[in-house]
Amino acid sequence: MVTQPIHMACFFRRRIASKLSRCLGLPEDTFISALCAIPVSKKQQSPDFRLSVKALLSKGILPDNGDLEAQTKTLANQLQQDDVVEEIFAGRGVIHFRVSRIQLVQKVLEQSRKERDKFGMKSELLKGLKKGTTVVEFSSPNIAKKFHAGHLRSTIIGNFIANLKGSLGNNVIRMNYLGDWGMQFGLLAAGFQSFGCQEKLKMNPLQHLFDVRIYSNTRACVLQVYVQVNREAENDEAVEQAGREFFRQLEQHEQHAMALWRQFREITVSEYRKVYKRLGVHFDVYSGESFHQKQAQEVVLRLQTQGLLKTTEKGTGVVDLSPSGDMSNYSTLLRSDGTSLYITRDLAAAINRKEIHNFDEMIYVTDKSQGNHFQQLFQILLAMGHLWAERCQHVPFGLVQGMKTRLGEVVFLEDVLDEAQARMLRNMSQAKTTKEMDDPEDTAEKVGISALIIQDFKGPLVSDYKFDWDRILQAQGDTGVFLQYTEAFISLSPSINCCFLTYDIHTVTMWPFVFSYDEVLYQSACDLQPKHLVNFLMTLSHLAASAHRHLPVKGSPQAVAQARLQLFSCVCTVLANGMRILGITPVEKM
Ligand code: ARG
Repeated sequence: MVTQPIHMACFFRRRIASKLSRCLGLPEDTFISALCAIPVSKKQQSPDFRLSVKALLSKGILPDNGDLEAQTKTLANQLQQDDVVEEIFAGRGVIHFRVSRIQLVQKVLEQSRKERDKFGMKSELLKGLKKGTTVVEFSSPNIAKKFHAGHLRSTIIGNFIANLKGSLGNNVIRMNYLGDWGMQFGLLAAGFQSFGCQEKLKMNPLQHLFDVRIYSNTRACVLQVYVQVNREAENDEAVEQAGREFFRQLEQHEQHAMALWRQFREITVSEYRKVYKRLGVHFDVYSGESFHQKQAQEVVLRLQTQGLLKTTEKGTGVVDLSPSGDMSNYSTLLRSDGTSLYITRDLAAAINRKEIHNFDEMIYVTDKSQGNHFQQLFQILLAMGHLWAERCQHVPFGLVQGMKTRLGEVVFLEDVLDEAQARMLRNMSQAKTTKEMDDPEDTAEKVGISALIIQDFKGPLVSDYKFDWDRILQAQGDTGVFLQYTEAFISLSPSINCCFLTYDIHTVTMWPFVFSYDEVLYQSACDLQPKHLVNFLMTLSHLAASAHRHLPVKGSPQAVAQARLQLFSCVCTVLANGMRILGITPVEKM
């Protein structure tokens, strides 16, 4: 019989669960999920798993005889130790299990050698997660507008979610939904006709479109203080009027308007592709608001026939979402001139994506200020009878304050990447330990990007944070630079003779930790927060760096040296896999 390879954590989990099952006469599965892996601790004899007897009693899985302590002790005594589960002892309402270190190391090494970049993925825990087609919509900048810190966050967070879902075996569709439609776009196009220049558009497209939009907002050809400029634009009826007119032409698909729009869009997408590539991010689909204006009209009709759309006194079309029908919560879908809004296009886009991709789940990644928008979107879809909207999710994130470059405010994604690279390059040239490398610019860019990512992923995504280049680029502490440095430092690819393996059990505290990798991925898959994986990788790299100091390879007897090499190669595999899921490309040398 061919047995499925079992991931190491599950191997031990199963082993303990089967003891419990035999002892209590209940199915093994009852205990698999009830066993909780204990986070790594520096304490020598710390246990690896915990079973809450209290929880089993309260769920009615075990009969409660009224004395929790005695019941826990009796159960712990009934369970027999063996060469794999070395210690079993009772705590307060819980039973602790400690696994043999030798067995642990052997399992971890075996799995990492066999599975390499799939390390941990065969875990039963992860296999139990629902698989299917996942649409992840992220980044989604607006043409001719700033690519602000929020778009950067959406890009790296969405990329993480897509990577994670993909590595867990989902069919992932990575989607960029450009802001390429709406009144603002009319304003831009009208402005381009007056102040735009085809030459400049070809030479520096993103900058020129951005400038034109600002110019058109002021009707002045001199760029003034941005805030002041915007205030003036609010009063500038004529520009507003031209923008409105152009947008109307676009909605009517008038040829010259469409041609200009198409040009802006194509040029923008091709520029973005280049910058995303630097960031290591790609998209399967570049969709956008523009794709769905016709369908948006169909959605409106459908809502009308379903009796869900009301026309207000002002002539706008709204959907009442309040439970008691008193319009205390409503969403506007149509302007009085009949043009569509952001949410109307989102409704159409969602329905269209379901038709095309038949996804099992869809995830939207934007800042938290759009929380209400997505809540309304899902509510309307459900009201229309699209039950799959239950499986749509908004992943919100907080604001980043103070992301600036030496040239000032961040306007384009490229600015951030250039700044990260330049600063990292300077730090590397000043560090004494920096190795000779073929392409220092490339290394600096990759390390700079990891610094951005780690900083961003450390806490809960909804938290706001203050951005500080100096802090994120530090070589020590929980930074992306330290992570890259450690991975590069211990990355060795030795040829190993397994008979020489010996284990430095006492100095290496990382093994029980390594085998919680699948649980960490599981947690991240459940709440879509990268912090679990970041914490794991940071702790692992600190443990690995310290082990590397205590366990020299050079100068040790051959058998010991080889064993140690293998240990580090395994840690390296795990670090590199985790980093890739976060969207970080490990560098070879630093
Ligand atoms: N373009 C929007 C913005 O910059 C984000 C789009 C989010 N996605 C969506 N389906 N509405 O704010």
